[in-house]
Amino acid sequence: APFNVRSAAAAPLTAEDYQRVVDEAYAKFKDVKDGANADYIPILATVPSEMFGIALVTRDGKIYAAGEQKYEFSIQSVSKPFTASLIMAEQGPKVLREKIGVEPTGLPFNSKLAMELYESRSVNPLVNAGAIAAVSLVQADSEQARWNKVLGNIEAYAGRKLQVLEEVYDSEYETAWSNRGIANLLFNYGRLYSDPEEALRVYTRQCSIGINTRDLGIMGATLANEGVNPFTGKRVLDAEDVPELLAIMATAGFYDESGEWMYRSGLPAKTGVGGGIVAVVPGKFAIATFSPPLNEAGNSVRGLKAINYISGELGVGLF
Ligand code: DON
Repeated sequence: APFNVRSAAAAPLTAEDYQRVVDEAYAKFKDVKDGANADYIPILATVPSEMFGIALVTRDGKIYAAGEQKYEFSIQSVSKPFTASLIMAEQGPKVLREKIGVEPTGLPFNSKLAMELYESRSVNPLVNAGAIAAVSLVQADSEQARWNKVLGNIEAYAGRKLQVLEEVYDSEYETAWSNRGIANLLFNYGRLYSDPEEALRVYTRQCSIGINTRDLGIMGATLANEGVNPFTGKRVLDAEDVPELLAIMATAGFYDESGEWMYRSGLPAKTGVGGGIVAVVPGKFAIATFSPPLNEAGNSVRGLKAINYISGELGVGLF
């Protein structure tokens, strides 16, 4: 279906509209069987595939939810825009653009070819190369200090203390040969700003942080609310930096499927191989979904269908 099924000229959205559309999306897509859990990180293959949750969180802190809300899944790549935000908050958007880059690659999230093609601009902070570079760029004089900043920032977005899923971390770090290769190549090109193995460890820990569907909705709502967490009232990012961050999500949030995603949903979003997706309607709300089975580009099948549906029915696609 095209996006914006509902006209922008229709009556203002009510609480009933939000809850009805969330419930409809859950009912429509809960039995979809397409896709498969990620298995290149062995433990992710063991997460129950049938779990499916949706949380729509508004900028004034109302939550409209359906399905699984409590299960803590690994944040994985959904962490990437939030650590990019930390670099913006700490060092400004110019540093992010110059030291990492903001061009979509059109290639898979773990592409080494992209790094070779775009050596001089180290791709963007939403693919593995740019995300490892972002972690390395955080100002810190020890690995512990680097990790504390990365975790603290994601906790500020979620509005609560979070834990690393240690089994996920072990499973991923033991098999992180591809990311180790990326970190070492970046270092070789002068595009990694700390010791490569330290950046790899902190990046892998970042990807192993456990969050639930509702946490992810709150993280997105903080971006929808111009950088202020609607529940804690804490500012995490300057309002003037939020549009740049959303622009990167709009062009690169779905990797080599980013064009297809934008064509269908019209919203900036970020996905992760743990099954999470968060989409942001600037100034209004965020839609978070969790469902482990992924399509070939590594994006949650039920999640992307649900967000497309909700965006269309509420008429909030940006274009
Ligand atoms: O580095 C990795 O491969 C994982 N920690 C994260 C990848 C990911 O989530 C890609 N997203 N779709």
